[in-house]
Amino acid sequence: MLASIITTLFFSLFGLTAAAQPKTNAWALPGNNSFPEGIARQARSPYFYTGSWITGTIWRGNVNKPDVEVFIPGGNEFNITSASGMKVTKDNNLVVAGAATGKVFVICLESQQLLHRFQAPEGALLNDLAVAKNGNIFITDSFLPKLYVITPEHLENESVDQELETFAKLEAPFEHETGQFNSNGIVVTDDQENVLIGDYNSHAIFRLCLGSKTITKVDFGNVAIGSPDGMLMRGNTLYAVNGDSTLDTEAFIDVFDIRKPYTTGKHVRRIKGQGMLLPSTAAFDGNDLLVANFQIGKAATADPTLPFTIVRVSTKKSRTRGSRMPA
Ligand SMILES: *[C@@H]1O[C@H](CO)[C@@H](O)[C@H](O)[C@H]1NC(C)=O
Ligand SMILES: *[C@@H]1O[C@H](CO)[C@@H](O)[C@H](O)[C@H]1NC(C)=O
Ligand SMILES: *[C@@H]1O[C@H](CO)[C@@H](O)[C@H](O)[C@H]1NC(C)=O
Repeated sequence: MLASIITTLFFSLFGLTAAAQPKTNAWALPGNNSFPEGIARQARSPYFYTGSWITGTIWRGNVNKPDVEVFIPGGNEFNITSASGMKVTKDNNLVVAGAATGKVFVICLESQQLLHRFQAPEGALLNDLAVAKNGNIFITDSFLPKLYVITPEHLENESVDQELETFAKLEAPFEHETGQFNSNGIVVTDDQENVLIGDYNSHAIFRLCLGSKTITKVDFGNVAIGSPDGMLMRGNTLYAVNGDSTLDTEAFIDVFDIRKPYTTGKHVRRIKGQGMLLPSTAAFDGNDLLVANFQIGKAATADPTLPFTIVRVSTKKSRTRGSRMPA
């Protein structure tokens, strides 16, 4: 009893009993052809960004408010006609992969100006990217067996338009299948010595050592994992958004414990529900994930569930929430 009174007093004194501002849990995107694929959170700000795979529109959302604004309209002066994976760098530049356009756009968030535009070889489908602590940006290609890099030197170069540099060829044991979606999500490991690349088509994750460029298939024992689309890593925890709508009727994110040297991992659990709808990728917002409900496959059938949404997904175990769909 006394403990409880003291606890109450403590929390009252610090204003902690007053319910914290309820979190915004879902954001509706305007448009019936939006298909948001990538998402990036800007540090030290309330903002996140997402973009349309179909039109190239880039939106800016605020983690505290449900409204989302057009940041760069589709068919814009930068010629972003399709947007896939994206990240915000330490310098507050938004880096956007341009899917089948084979372009990567680097946009200054403050001035909204295009700083650079990189072009991959013909036949590329640039899917996702990850930023290392030293400023290198690694970009995956779902169609060509290559991993690309944008270095700080590229970003210092005054030329806006540059060719995208190949960092490594993805040869066996990487399981590249021509005509299929291969490399997808990517993360840089904590030690900054490796990248982990999700192979969407093979339901596998590969480690590429940045120093030796050797490739190793990560061994998860006999556990069947989802089809890795967007991936995120914090410490030893790897999150892989399942992008395969045929695998399971309910959307899920695979959670793995994976430690140095990152060649083996343990499948820990699956995060499900919470408003996810055929999602593609995610960004950290504190301990939550902001998940882009891409509605993969629905572009072909032209019957997406409207409105398109971004949803907040808790990474905490077995926490149930109500419907995330905005009214
Ligand atoms: C989407 O919106 C456009 C313009 O408002 C309209 O012409 C079109 O029929 C809509 N398509 C669907 C599938 O609702
Ligand atoms: C705009 O991008 C598209 C798709 O990559 C390309 O085909 C077209 O040539 C570009 N237009 C200009 C003016 O650069
Ligand atoms: C800057 O980029 C241009 C265009 O890709 C290239 O021709 C030039 O060599 C680069 N300059 C330096 C210093 O790397």
